[in-house]
Amino acid sequence: MISIDEQRGVVLLSTNSSSYAFALLEHSYPSHLHWGDRIGSVRGPTVHQSGRRPFSVQAPVHGTYLSLGSLPSEYGWSGSGDFRIPSWEAVDEQGFPIIEPWHERHSIHPGKPALDGMPSSYTKAGDNSETLKVVLRDKPSGLAIHLRYTVFPTYDVITRSTVFCNDGENSINLTRAGSLCVDLDGSDFEVLSLHGAWGREAQLSRHALAPGVYSFGSRTGTTSHFANPFVALAPPSATEHTGAVRAALLMYSGNFRADVERTFDDDVRLVLGINPDSFSWMLGPGERFTTPEVLLVYSAAGLNGMSQIYHRFIRERVMPRRFQDAPRPIVANNWEATYFDFTHDSLLPLLDAAAQVGVELFVLDDGWFGDRESDGKSLGDWTVNRRKLPRGLEGLAADVAEHGLELGLWFEPEMVSPDSDLHRAHPDWCLHIPGREKPLGRNQLVLDLSRPEICREIIDRVSSVLESAPISYVKWDMNRYLSYPVSPSLPAERRKELSHRYVLGLYQIWDALTTRFPKVLFAGCSGGGGRFDAGVLSYFPQIWASDNSDAVDRLRIQYGLSLVYPVCAIEAHVTSIPNHQVGRFTPFSTRGNVALSANFGFELDLTALDDEDRRIAEKLVATAKKYRRLIHGGRFVRLESPFDAGSNRVAWMFVDEKARLALLFAFQLLSSANREGRAVPLVGLEPETLYRVSWLDSGDLRLMGFTAPPQSDPFTEGPVRCIGAELMGRGVELPRVLGDFVSFRFLIEAE
Ligand code: GLA
Repeated sequence: MISIDEQRGVVLLSTNSSSYAFALLEHSYPSHLHWGDRIGSVRGPTVHQSGRRPFSVQAPVHGTYLSLGSLPSEYGWSGSGDFRIPSWEAVDEQGFPIIEPWHERHSIHPGKPALDGMPSSYTKAGDNSETLKVVLRDKPSGLAIHLRYTVFPTYDVITRSTVFCNDGENSINLTRAGSLCVDLDGSDFEVLSLHGAWGREAQLSRHALAPGVYSFGSRTGTTSHFANPFVALAPPSATEHTGAVRAALLMYSGNFRADVERTFDDDVRLVLGINPDSFSWMLGPGERFTTPEVLLVYSAAGLNGMSQIYHRFIRERVMPRRFQDAPRPIVANNWEATYFDFTHDSLLPLLDAAAQVGVELFVLDDGWFGDRESDGKSLGDWTVNRRKLPRGLEGLAADVAEHGLELGLWFEPEMVSPDSDLHRAHPDWCLHIPGREKPLGRNQLVLDLSRPEICREIIDRVSSVLESAPISYVKWDMNRYLSYPVSPSLPAERRKELSHRYVLGLYQIWDALTTRFPKVLFAGCSGGGGRFDAGVLSYFPQIWASDNSDAVDRLRIQYGLSLVYPVCAIEAHVTSIPNHQVGRFTPFSTRGNVALSANFGFELDLTALDDEDRRIAEKLVATAKKYRRLIHGGRFVRLESPFDAGSNRVAWMFVDEKARLALLFAFQLLSSANREGRAVPLVGLEPETLYRVSWLDSGDLRLMGFTAPPQSDPFTEGPVRCIGAELMGRGVELPRVLGDFVSFRFLIEAE
């Protein structure tokens, strides 16, 4: 709920367990007061500084003066004496900075407005959500800044975004337009964020703040493999289960930047939004610019507490409604099984094997179109390759259906190969600098999505394929960055708008296609997890997390992603050994347990499995089907982290709402002689309830034909019975098994 003490100018936004407050100082300037535990009201002083600070600059406000340089701000800018990192900047037609955004009005509205052309979270009846609009205005230029805050009380989430409106008569150039600015007292925080590269996405980074600004983000035109648009601040003592965590997630799929500044006063400013490095936006009279939405979470229950808030919110208020409760299909993808080398006939044995182990959907990956025999050509020519598929997609779909499967199809619609009919017909449709070479990435160029006619063409081409055959799943890939984001169609003064216009074009395409094909499950991909963000998830409910499918590396990638994203958003497949990306050998059951912990599927030649592995595959599919509601909709609890120093074990569990049913996964990395294993203490059970713990994958521990019997096995007599307090205290004792990379799957049921 939102309340305003009009007399003191204090605004208080509260969810069920958190509050966020700011003051409208001198009824003119929004100054941050509180983001933390829920409070009933703000009683204390609303001005943090006493008197004027030495060497400060005073901004004239409604006949008085404010020293903005050290005031906690809700939306700081430069030019008026605040020298911290700004969250927005704009200049008027003569190039003079716009510097007087004083409070004009505010209002509270039920529900939440959608964002113009951008993905945003939504409310449902019964949410009791409210939106606060605060309008700031720079009178001389006519620039109005609408700060929007929406409170989702039962989700413990507050969202923010900003709309810039040019109500003046001349153009305004917006050179920075952040979505979030918040100033926190003190600097005893560590910054948590996710970083990586292709094949090793979402690696958790956690470190103290030094004086100055710590920045990270993306300049690739996408969210990128390098960083995720998420940042959290937590005291050094915060653990997975304790401590106050403040976090922000940007719902955006393009260039972004997070700035965390430890100020001269040893306070912290956090700014998050579109990356200003490669951005500006010309606002003509009467025009508006909307920033992406940011999702704010405060949790007093450590990192797991924060993650569980994000998981539930993204699942229920970000992802497309129609996929919220629908069970996600178990897929077999042919990419690592065949790469480009397949025909209709050679796919048939794969379909047989997929059907035999219980798969539900077959995904035909890259290579089904144009003249595509390698990654060197044909992107853009979305017509079926008759040499490979003589009976077309319709013929393939018929055989897929004969096997009791549905058909999924790979596309990469944002791209064009120089060697393609599309590029020959429209050489100017790609991003390029006229008169210069067009540098390639994976032999391809990026289509100019800032141009509406190109977006329309993409929608038409993809639609006609989807209309040509019963296709129920689309893997939407994107395999290069926008290295020189230039559209010759934009005038010189608008060059820096391209990256954002690209993302807006993309959102339009996704909106049109997901509306036209509501039953098709679209899955995101960008060379694995190069575009894994909440913007994508508002159209596509799941994303291929990494091209690295090695079980051990995936532990880190999936653990990292789970900081923010629900596991139903993460696609994970069982692939063959030696692993194609890192060459590692891991047991089939371990590859299975890693994939089971997300959106399960296969991506290997299922016809090559021996009887033992086929038995394990069938068991994995049966487990995925039986427990997908728990895995995708239950509470995901991280227990032991691969990012802890010296980590040799990873564990996590899924618990249902009433703590009656849980699945525990534990992964033992390197084997060690003569060492007693520690039990894995669980979290989130009922202390007094009696639980039965069953080892579900005993007997699946074979590594390359070798199975050693467990050296000790607490489960030899069958399931073990313990009360919740014991399982959460001492924990579940793991069998002692020889071999590296072994894993365990346990079912925990209340008696
Ligand atoms: C990307 C994807 C892979 C696969 C290939 C096909 O690398 O991440 O999963 O689809 O493209 O070219």
